[in-house]
Amino acid sequence: MTSTGGNETVSTEKTTAEETGVSTAKDARPVRDGEPLLEVENLGKHFPVTAGLLRRQVAAVKAVDGVSFSVRKGETLGLVGESGCGKSTTGRMVMRLLDPSFGKITFEGRDITSMSQGRLRPLRRDLQMIFQDPYSSLNPRKTVGAIVGAPFRLQKIQTEHGVKKAVQEILELVGLNPEHYNRYPHEFSGGQRQRIGIARTLALKPKLIVADEPVSALDVSVQAQVVNLLEDLQDELDLTYVVIAHDLSVVRHISDRVAVMYLGKIVEVADRSDLYERPMHPYTNALLSAVPVPDPSERDDRQRIRLQGDVPSPLDPPPACRFHTRCWKAQDICKQVEPPLVELSPGHEAACHFPENTTVSATDEVAKAAVAPGPGATATDAE
Ligand SMILES: Nc1ncnc2c1ncn2[C@@H]1O[C@H](COP(=O)(O)OP(=O)(O)O)[C@@H](O)[C@H]1O
Ligand code: SF4
Ligand SMILES: [Mg+2]
Repeated sequence: MTSTGGNETVSTEKTTAEETGVSTAKDARPVRDGEPLLEVENLGKHFPVTAGLLRRQVAAVKAVDGVSFSVRKGETLGLVGESGCGKSTTGRMVMRLLDPSFGKITFEGRDITSMSQGRLRPLRRDLQMIFQDPYSSLNPRKTVGAIVGAPFRLQKIQTEHGVKKAVQEILELVGLNPEHYNRYPHEFSGGQRQRIGIARTLALKPKLIVADEPVSALDVSVQAQVVNLLEDLQDELDLTYVVIAHDLSVVRHISDRVAVMYLGKIVEVADRSDLYERPMHPYTNALLSAVPVPDPSERDDRQRIRLQGDVPSPLDPPPACRFHTRCWKAQDICKQVEPPLVELSPGHEAACHFPENTTVSATDEVAKAAVAPGPGATATDAE
């Protein structure tokens, strides 16, 4: 544990996520290949837009439009993309805080997509969310002890030496002073408040934590400390994370695998180093080109790609490849045929007709699958 009680003087070899570059704590850890804890298939959320006295539906915001991914036990999946692309909506559906419009969510082999809130209650212990804003997510009128202890009371959990002792142990675990049990949120700094938020999610020893922009509201100087804390806790408590961020440096620092979202769809998924070293989707490439490079000798090799125009509205997303209105490689087929998300190299999926850093494309892979003989045959058999 790198944290020390109560203040933000956490010892860390890394300063900001930007400064750490590629070489991070995750490099020392192999990507885990455990069984899937969470599986999401073709998940979508369309928010209805209504008008008139009768509130008839006149359109729909296609916030999330068919995303599929899985998260293995003990790993961290980063979910990254520009603001408004559907990251939070995806996270909230996985937590069952929002009902999906379509698709399927499987947690530990159980379909939880339409499980009633009553049946979900015991599962609430296993599924927890960390929110972006530590200021608004903590009740200012409650003490830290009451906030972190609430889950025990709500779930009627018996603790060996009482709730107070259990809460103090958690406060210590997240680097807060257990003596501050009776203090109120406003008496803490931003980073400490996020630690309180993290302590609250840990109370019931969850299996999966969805952290939605966990450090975006914090000063850059504190961000790395909270990211390091999340990593330490993962090792200590065997946690599985989905970390949502618009900032590629944060996701790069903490993730084993990264999924890139654009306008309600996942456009690329790969192991972290593969994604950062060999991005295949032009959108990923553009996002990466905007990340500051800490090593000046590497700066000249990478050209900054400036994306044209704004992200189109999710009310009326462009047909076929949604990125075609901003893509410098777009051709006619991109406007007519949606490229599916397919595996273009082992563990590396991308949805593009003309991907980079590879000689195959989503179109080739689909064509190959179409001519492949029945089940049991391998891709090589089909060639
Ligand atoms: N309750 C809602 N009603 C209507 N539209 C929503 C609602 N929540 C989110 N949206 C819209 O869905 C899209 C995706 O939002 P969100 O998931 O918050 O994106 P992100 O977290 O990637 O910034 C945005 O266009 C947003 O305005
Ligand atoms: S499918 Fe076409 S428009 Fe879409 S990202 Fe690939 S090259 Fe660009
Ligand atoms: Mg969000």
